[in-house]
Amino acid sequence: MSTDTQPLDKPVPVSGLSIYDPVHLGIDERGYGVDIELIYRNILLGGEPGSGKSVALNNIVAHAAMCTDTRLWLFDGKQVELGLWKSVSDVFVGPDIDAGLQRLQELQRVMDWRYDELDRVRRRKVTQTDPVDVIVAVIDEIAYYSATIGSKEQQEKFVRLVRDLVARGRAAGVIVVAATQRPSADIIPTSLRDLFGFRCAFRCTTEASSDIILGHGWAKQGQSATHIAPEDRGIGLLLAEGGMPRRMKSAYLSDADIYALVDYAHQLRTTIAY
Ligand SMILES: Nc1ncnc2c1ncn2[C@@H]1O[C@H](COP(=O)(O)OP(=O)(O)O)[C@@H](O)[C@H]1O
Ligand SMILES: [Mg+2]
Repeated sequence: MSTDTQPLDKPVPVSGLSIYDPVHLGIDERGYGVDIELIYRNILLGGEPGSGKSVALNNIVAHAAMCTDTRLWLFDGKQVELGLWKSVSDVFVGPDIDAGLQRLQELQRVMDWRYDELDRVRRRKVTQTDPVDVIVAVIDEIAYYSATIGSKEQQEKFVRLVRDLVARGRAAGVIVVAATQRPSADIIPTSLRDLFGFRCAFRCTTEASSDIILGHGWAKQGQSATHIAPEDRGIGLLLAEGGMPRRMKSAYLSDADIYALVDYAHQLRTTIAY
């Protein structure tokens, strides 16, 4: 223990947050907190433009940024939705399909190395006590990379890589968080949708779109994101594996909140751990 009693010239950030802790998303209709265990899972958020996807994503990014056991890989076709977090991310990809593909391939390689290592030590997944950081890959507007920019081959390759990461990343400590404003079967095929353990449908214009996010049949059972009023931004139906959709409102971080969090996260990432 140090005998040095000199006061420190600046506060030492203490986080206490881990990506293995539940991530706060917002509150439900009864006012209870909605906290999800994202570790070993992935989350898909869908809904019409302006329905609240990026706001919700920012809550997840904020949690990840506050964790000392997590690295952020951000893919943001619009640049500004996640841009405030750039300085605390390991990777930031803007509207550039080549960079997007290169980074996803790198992430795939990291995942493969981790599986080789798990195999070597006869383990099935990374755990909190392993000296391995969890990588949270956040893709805001998947369709931007998979259907808007680049050639058809590049777009298909992007989807293939995302699918592989979603399918295999979990045990290797790779979490995919993806948003789409075009919930259509060509952007999110059922086989890809079903790989996401958490799905959140913000307001949708058709029951078909709502079902594409949540899963087939929910609209018929009355669980449709078309029932969310256009002015109810930030309200969504959150479905966790095997459960019922839960109506919730996501927490909102203002730009000022995010500046403060980024500052803090920055210190956290540059201070020697005690
Ligand atoms: N949970 C929320 N609380 C308050 N306002 C919200 C919330 N979610 C969204 N909004 C408002 O709606 C706007 C659009 O949300 P955004 O997340 O950018 O939509 P999307 O990414 O789905 O296009 C935000 O700029 C904000 O003004
Ligand atoms: Mg958005």
